[in-house]
Amino acid sequence: MSPLAANLVAVLGAASLAVAQTPNAPGTQNRYPFTKQYDQGFLDGYSVLKHIGGQGPYSNRVSYGISRDPPDGCAVDQVIMLKRHGERWPDPNPAAKFQVSLNKIYGTNQTAFTGALEFLNRWKYFVPEGRYVRLESYNGPYAGLLDGYIHGAEYGVRYGHLWDQTAANLTIPMFSSGYERILTTARKFGEGFFGWNYTDVVAMNVIPEEVYMGANSLTPTCLHDKDTPMCDLLGKSNLHPQFKVAAARLNGQNEKLALNSSDIYNLMQMSAYELNVRGYSDWVNVFTLDEWVAFGYTQDLSYYYCNGPGYVNGRTVGSVFANASLTLLNQGPEKSGKLFFNFCHDTNITPVLAAFGIASPPEPLPIDHIPFPNPYSSSDIVPMGGHLTMERLTCNATAITKPGTYVRLILNEAVVPYTGCQDGPGYSCSLARFTEMVSHSLPDFISTCGFDHTYPQYLDFWWNYNTTRDYNRETQDPIPAGEGLLTYKGTAA
Ligand SMILES: *[C@@H]1O[C@H](CO)[C@@H](O)[C@H](O)[C@H]1NC(C)=O
Ligand SMILES: *[C@@H]1O[C@H](CO)[C@@H](O)[C@H](O)[C@H]1NC(C)=O
Ligand SMILES: *[C@@H]1O[C@H](CO)[C@@H](O)[C@H](O)[C@H]1NC(C)=O
Ligand SMILES: *[C@@H]1O[C@H](CO)[C@@H](O)[C@H](O)[C@H]1NC(C)=O
Ligand SMILES: *[C@@H]1O[C@H](CO)[C@@H](O)[C@H](O)[C@H]1NC(C)=O
Ligand SMILES: *[C@@H]1O[C@H](CO)[C@@H](O)[C@H](O)[C@H]1NC(C)=O
Ligand SMILES: *[C@@H]1O[C@H](CO)[C@@H](O)[C@H](O)[C@H]1NC(C)=O
Repeated sequence: MSPLAANLVAVLGAASLAVAQTPNAPGTQNRYPFTKQYDQGFLDGYSVLKHIGGQGPYSNRVSYGISRDPPDGCAVDQVIMLKRHGERWPDPNPAAKFQVSLNKIYGTNQTAFTGALEFLNRWKYFVPEGRYVRLESYNGPYAGLLDGYIHGAEYGVRYGHLWDQTAANLTIPMFSSGYERILTTARKFGEGFFGWNYTDVVAMNVIPEEVYMGANSLTPTCLHDKDTPMCDLLGKSNLHPQFKVAAARLNGQNEKLALNSSDIYNLMQMSAYELNVRGYSDWVNVFTLDEWVAFGYTQDLSYYYCNGPGYVNGRTVGSVFANASLTLLNQGPEKSGKLFFNFCHDTNITPVLAAFGIASPPEPLPIDHIPFPNPYSSSDIVPMGGHLTMERLTCNATAITKPGTYVRLILNEAVVPYTGCQDGPGYSCSLARFTEMVSHSLPDFISTCGFDHTYPQYLDFWWNYNTTRDYNRETQDPIPAGEGLLTYKGTAA
């Protein structure tokens, strides 16, 4: 649950209990059940949500213990966010694999399942043939559409002061890459943030996910083949004996069952989607902690070596967004605007983090064992609905810091401190130092990724956006379903 929603439940829960149990004592200080202002537990840090990588429900990043609110004496004056779409149904390829493994189970003609799979006597598959693939889920506690809306509603409380509700004829552009589920998330977020004014105020810009956009893109990629030897290796090697153990265990509990390690992987992946869609999954408990940790690590390796800091062009691809962000932050809110809400895929966020140098492990991830503690936990980086939020802070002087402009990077609601720059209040980094540090390390996207002068050379749509309201609503999509590629210049791709 999002922090605001969790607080709301806590507040409502406590209030209703107090009313129910102290009916004759209005105004007393007694609170039942006895609750501590600060929980002393911290006993069990285990949650499967931290071992399903980017496949399952959102969870906040494990915090470093820095308050999410601006440091004393500081106010946020500009926000740049890059958010992934919300929880969703599986894509067609994984869905086909789930079906293969399920067919293997049901093909045994078992009349009564026993052991860990006993629940299969009642369970039904949750993906209807050919429907909903790729789209966000809409029911249950982990519904993707809810994620977009509630996130927008929370940010409306946090950053609503950056939107002047009294201004007439205001246009605030939002930016979504041209993919159905991403555009849907952007719209839900906008409805949550701007409420009844969403349609009047927002101008949704849809940026095509096409190479002809060059650097003017939320989803840039290199033109030439990816140089990803480690990434290619991952698919071929069998790194995880845990999956074999799980297969043997389940096969031993049910006669004729002949699952192998690929089936285990498929079924674990399926259970993440069952959480997204159904909100509850019996499958999660079929597998042990060790097996979930192994599954999570397969996801971490893939992000790290195929799209993150372990991919030779990872930082280069991420430099497009990083460089443009530096420009915005240095121009500031008066010149360029205050709210920049951007929406894309998981694999577009991991390169940006690499370019900013956050969440990058000091050593390459090992492929012969699972490191603990895990230095690159993708569930903490790009769960469904994962997001990077950059805050520009204007701060008064404190005893140890100068007045001025500072920056904080917040990943899934955890403020991420820079080890190399903490010269501002609350572990923020001065904008000048941040700019110097990041810009010096940015590789050149255009030359490194094989583009020539005929392609757009840098990200430009934050400044030259379209003010049309045509794409704010679903009914106005020229391509109503599927991947729906549109251009922000208004022509179909
Ligand atoms: C900074 O100081 C001024 C003058 O005391 C005060 O009005 C303002 O509220 C302070 N800003 C913040 C964010 O606390
Ligand atoms: C299960 O039943 C189907 C249909 O009766 C049959 O074709 C198949 O061979 C059976 N499978 C096994 C493993 O007995
Ligand atoms: C707002 O837009 C309307 C219609 O286009 C126009 O008549 C009006 O002058 C505008 N108001 C301001 C303050 O720009
Ligand atoms: C916001 O919505 C309210 C209610 O519909 C409307 O009165 C107001 O003019 C809107 N503001 C803007 C800036 O469009
Ligand atoms: C598991 O079985 C499937 C066929 O059901 C096969 O395609 C796959 O390669 C097998 N995986 C392993 C690791 O043997
Ligand atoms: C960085 O962005 C600025 C403007 O946003 C642009 O002029 C410049 O060419 C970009 N640099 C690179 C290396 O992309
Ligand atoms: C903005 O989008 C509209 C509607 O799709 C299109 O007709 C128009 O040409 C676009 N304007 C610009 C400046 O690109």
